[in-house]
Amino acid sequence: MKVAEIKSNLEIIWMNFDQYKDQIYALRKAVFVDGQGLEDYLMQSPYDNQGLHLGAFHNNRLVSSLSAYIFPPQGKIFEEFELPAAKRRIVQFSRRVELPEYRGSRLAEFLASIAWKKIFETIHPEYFVVGLSDTHSRLRLYYKTFGFSSYKTVETTHGQRHILLAKGEDVLKSAYIRVKKYVQSLTSRYELPPPSLLRFLEEIDHMDYLILGELKKENLYIDSLLFKDELPRLIAQARLLYLIQEPVFNKINHLPPPPGTFLDIGCGPGVYLSAIAQNEHFKGYDFVGMDISKDMITYSSLSYPNIRWIQGNAYDTGFADNSVSVVHAGFLFIHLSNPELALMEIYRILKPGGALYVMDVNDSTFEGPKLIKRMVQKHKDIYEGNRDILNDLPTLAQNQHLKLVQEHSITAKNTGQENEVKVQENVTELGRMYMWAMYVFIAQREEVVEYYQKAEEHYFKNPCQISVQVQTQIYKKEE
Ligand SMILES: C[S@@+](CC[C@H](N)C(=O)[O-])C[C@H]1O[C@@H](n2cnc3c(N)ncnc32)[C@H](O)[C@@H]1O
Repeated sequence: MKVAEIKSNLEIIWMNFDQYKDQIYALRKAVFVDGQGLEDYLMQSPYDNQGLHLGAFHNNRLVSSLSAYIFPPQGKIFEEFELPAAKRRIVQFSRRVELPEYRGSRLAEFLASIAWKKIFETIHPEYFVVGLSDTHSRLRLYYKTFGFSSYKTVETTHGQRHILLAKGEDVLKSAYIRVKKYVQSLTSRYELPPPSLLRFLEEIDHMDYLILGELKKENLYIDSLLFKDELPRLIAQARLLYLIQEPVFNKINHLPPPPGTFLDIGCGPGVYLSAIAQNEHFKGYDFVGMDISKDMITYSSLSYPNIRWIQGNAYDTGFADNSVSVVHAGFLFIHLSNPELALMEIYRILKPGGALYVMDVNDSTFEGPKLIKRMVQKHKDIYEGNRDILNDLPTLAQNQHLKLVQEHSITAKNTGQENEVKVQENVTELGRMYMWAMYVFIAQREEVVEYYQKAEEHYFKNPCQISVQVQTQIYKKEE
């Protein structure tokens, strides 16, 4: 079946098992039993009740589904599959089915990559497991492309199973990066954003699956860089960003009026927030800067003692419900592995009528010569955060009841000249060095340093134009 035909009436959802059980069983029967002549037991799993089930509906009919069983780090499955011991949860992917007429549509692959991506971001299992019978030798190869490797062959009550595991942080991380790319390309193929796992876990009362403890420690930004090397660059960038953003400040008209708390999450060295605090457009708020990094908070406190600085993180801010007027996040969302969880937390702490004010670079708008574009793309491929996140943020925010009410873009560009900074309405021309400074952090990533060096050489030897958009989005929590 053609993509155009499918996408005109396609829906992908996390299915509440009790509600969709009959359709799930009917689909498994059609595919496994009637289609492939396999045994009846495949229709049901003893773990279905506790599983997460993702389904694709075309014209309101379930045409593809996948189940993921979430196991605590001990239990029957460990004996059944002779699995290695674990400290955290493990996840089994199972019963991936697709009606024969949908073969070639990549719907099953879309479901598998969504499930992997969302489960990794939210539950972060210690490892993934699949158990395949001999009849599924092609599927075995397919799973191997996602980092699974053969673990052992075991005898189960239903015959021999080849157990494959995706295990080890490096394996999981590179598989995750790969899966993210699939989700992105299939999302644009079907023009359908993935459904929210977080919302679903809330609905089924399973927020206990969330790996909040790990997420609370995560700092994707600084983990791959050295604070002392990064600090001067970040300070210079914050000053520049403030200049770039000044024309936008006049246009922003959706912030609730002061008094009230203006919380900057991911405040870094505090340069940006302290400049905002002195700007007449933001007069009257009570400013608070928050960053996960102790070094950043120490630096901010020493530099700007008139502002309150707190060490804390975007997933669990410690603020009371409905207590903050404005949450500002500058160059933060690009560095979060679970932006939706941060949105959930921000929604919780915002007062009704409060606003989330996001400002970020969007690398999908990067323009420049091929060699430099390639560097940006290669970095995107390896980065655990997402420098295109502003493309997805409106949908993720909507899942969390935050509505996009205002947007602005400023193009930062250099035309190969050593000009002074020229700030205009929607374009800021940066000097050559300043523009390049927006990308020098890439040099610190070993995996892409080669691409960086070639791009840098090209940039400074051949005067050329490069540009990227710095975008602002304002979201509101309903009154
Ligand atoms: C690129 S810097 C931006 C700093 C500042 N907003 C600016 O524009 O100058 C990103 C900052 O986010 C912080 N950060 C990363 N993950 C965070 C999290 N989960 N919660 C709070 N801060 C985080 C980093 O420590 C870093 O200081």
